[in-house]
Amino acid sequence: MSLTVRPAPHPLRGRLRVPGDKSISHRAVLFGALARGTTRITGLLEGDDVLATIAAVRALGCDASTVGPQSWHVTGAPWRDAGRIDCGNSGTTARLLLGALAPRAGATLDGDTSLRGRPMRRVLDPLGRMGAAFTGGPGLPITVDKRRLNGITVEATVASAQVKSAVLLAGLGAEGETSYVEPVATRDHTERLLTAMGAPLRREGNALIVSAGPLDALAITVPGDVSSAAFWMVAAAIVPGSDLVIENVGLNPTRTGVIDVLVRMGASIEVDAVDAPEPYGTVRVRGGALRATRIDGPLIPRLIDEIPVLAVAAAFADGETIFADAAELRVKESDRVATTVAGLRALGFDADARPDGLVVRGAPDAAARSSASIESAGDHRIAMAFAIAGLRLGVHVGDTACIATSYPSFHSTLARFAGA
Ligand code: S3P
Repeated sequence: MSLTVRPAPHPLRGRLRVPGDKSISHRAVLFGALARGTTRITGLLEGDDVLATIAAVRALGCDASTVGPQSWHVTGAPWRDAGRIDCGNSGTTARLLLGALAPRAGATLDGDTSLRGRPMRRVLDPLGRMGAAFTGGPGLPITVDKRRLNGITVEATVASAQVKSAVLLAGLGAEGETSYVEPVATRDHTERLLTAMGAPLRREGNALIVSAGPLDALAITVPGDVSSAAFWMVAAAIVPGSDLVIENVGLNPTRTGVIDVLVRMGASIEVDAVDAPEPYGTVRVRGGALRATRIDGPLIPRLIDEIPVLAVAAAFADGETIFADAAELRVKESDRVATTVAGLRALGFDADARPDGLVVRGAPDAAARSSASIESAGDHRIAMAFAIAGLRLGVHVGDTACIATSYPSFHSTLARFAGA
């Protein structure tokens, strides 16, 4: 599968919605499978990654069924051993399941070539210290055998919500208290949802402390994914004269770094937020001249998945934009430092890789090139980031089937704005 995007024939205008948040969707399904009763989910992302989590909880003996568009019921049950579980391309499925399985049931987790190459030691090490039993590894496939776990204190060595979630889910089934100390805040969907489902979880400073306890089923409304909305925010920011309103976007402050950075770069953005267990609201973006910035430190986990598309914004900004403290980019669905720099260069931009990020030297007046061709390396966010660049320059993106992992309707929204 591939995608040809022609420069937008006119500014992007109108209102749109994006599919449900991927991180919250995984958690709604997985925690629902651990809870007493039936969890009712609306707005679920029905992308390949979340479908892998749904298949996993079914294999573990839980009922998960669709009751309408994006509406699902998940009924918890004691987990039974599952045999092989295919996590596909989904790091969240694999890492959260490793923690959830360890005290509850056995299974062999596997994934596609990209996922097999991704680091799992970051979860195997703390879970192993709790008493979890793994064979195989350090990458997938990994077999988990059910064991009694003991609560411990884990000091985060990498800023990762997936590791944090794996440890907390294991801690919910362990004897004694499990404490996870996180010096740099990462997305907190797990804490919010576990608390709403009645988990014995509390925060003390930068430590999260959990002990064994049941979860209760919940009605969960999943807001639109800010990581998917980010593509349209950047599209509106780089196509002059655009004015886009994106409705029902998740606005959890641990995820909204992309909005802060685009504002800093000079885009005009209005946010109308509604307070809820997971805040959400409307984001209006109007394009304007963009200027370069520096993106580093605690901001990085708040926008880690948006760096490829922010690098596209930086390519049209005046000056040199630096992304630093982002070595985690190298172990995502692709090495996103390498794939982002390669894509920018293929479009004629000046960009360099650094060990912990990249440098982009912007060319605000870059003109359309008919021949630019980019490879996604099977990475959904790379495919979509460069499709958005195509709205200014025109581009052919190869290997775009991966887009279905997080944003199955991306093509139809793009077709509304791209040239014929
Ligand atoms: C996610 C956490 C992040 C993010 C990923 C989703 C999650 O990964 O990049 O797309 O749902 O917890 P890390 O935990 O590896 O930083």
